[in-house]
Amino acid sequence: MPMTTPIVCRSAEELYSRAADAVAVTAERAVAARGVFSVALSGGTTPRSLYELLATDQYRSRIPWGNTHVFWGDERCVPPTHPDSNYRAAHDALLVHVPIPPANVHRLRGEEDAPEAAASEYERTLREFFLVEPGQAPPFDLLLLGMGDDGHTASLFPHTDALREERRTVVANFVDKLAAYRLTITPPVLRSAREVLVLVSGGAKARVLRDVLESPLDVDTYPSQLLRTSGGTVTWMVDAEAASLLSGTPG
Ligand code: 6PG
Repeated sequence: MPMTTPIVCRSAEELYSRAADAVAVTAERAVAARGVFSVALSGGTTPRSLYELLATDQYRSRIPWGNTHVFWGDERCVPPTHPDSNYRAAHDALLVHVPIPPANVHRLRGEEDAPEAAASEYERTLREFFLVEPGQAPPFDLLLLGMGDDGHTASLFPHTDALREERRTVVANFVDKLAAYRLTITPPVLRSAREVLVLVSGGAKARVLRDVLESPLDVDTYPSQLLRTSGGTVTWMVDAEAASLLSGTPG
């Protein structure tokens, strides 16, 4: 498996503008080809500036919001109004500022008392939208992902059960280090996306980014290495600080 060469941006500002361009181009192409653009958003802090940029006049008009369907790759087990909610982060930074029909926003119901029930409900949502059979992974046009400083992506954390899930598409994954469940898409969904865009920013991620991209395959330790087996196009877009330890980066 050839080593992945990320797109290295000189600054966080360049990272977000290039990411916004990539999202807009993918959206335009998806709607031209299939009449719809399906995107799964990531949580955390990295994508917030991207969401805010997509909500500006410069980008808002480039995305066909009426044909765009928004999903999430993972969610915390909290209500949608909670500060930790990935839905709330995207809602406040992007969705309230663009003309996307409410029916096109498909959130994971983190507020459910039973996380596993919320996961099963979302699997049904995905099956019904993508018209796939149980156990068949949905082909998102774009899977937007981040990476934690422990190498996790979505809520596929190191040494957790969801890393070995090959049949389900959404599960409730108990994360010991958080002492909490997270709702997350599973490895088959990472593999079935037409395009994956992974955004990584900041020096705190430099070491793990080098390990994820350059170390031998060890998914249990570095879950983001699952992307090496994706069937679609995987683009790592990183800023110079995050890229500072990569072997191809000038010292
Ligand atoms: C989440 C995200 C998660 C995130 C990484 C990076 O729910 O937290 O989906 O996978 O992308 O944890 O988070 P930061 O962008 O905050 O570093």
